[in-house]
Amino acid sequence: MEIVTYGNEVLRSQAEPVRVIDAAAVKLAQDMLETMRAGKGIGLAAPQVGILKRLFVMQIADDVPRVFFNPRIVEQSEETVKFEEGCMSLPGIYADVVRPEIVRVHAWNEKGRAFTLEADGLLARVIQHELDHLHGLMFIDHLSPLKRKRVLKAWEEKFRA
Ligand code: NI
Repeated sequence: MEIVTYGNEVLRSQAEPVRVIDAAAVKLAQDMLETMRAGKGIGLAAPQVGILKRLFVMQIADDVPRVFFNPRIVEQSEETVKFEEGCMSLPGIYADVVRPEIVRVHAWNEKGRAFTLEADGLLARVIQHELDHLHGLMFIDHLSPLKRKRVLKAWEEKFRA
């Protein structure tokens, strides 16, 4: 699948719930995992492949691949942590982002089963980053205006090159 990059409206739109986790929905998740791996990413949200559905996939190193249909964060820690993020829709751009350290997320997996997962570390980070995409948000939105301007300037220079 083709990954949509920054500047495309689809990345700024609200994703719609997945009504049924059927074969087509599971196939979409598998295609997204493949696209993500091909691009050496660790997370990918449906809007990033131009599909406005509440779905994201992720896989950190040798961990199991994870599929989240209709995810929502049900609890998050007050403690925050700073961590460097990048995005397949903003290739080559990285910046430190502050987010809650621990999150509890509720979603449905590729078998159509509901689950709740408490995550910290990189797992929590990717979950929050990907969930943002379902609300039309990107990691640069968490930066200060000055930092965001700097990062976008770097992106534009890269884009023109
Ligand atoms: Ni991203």
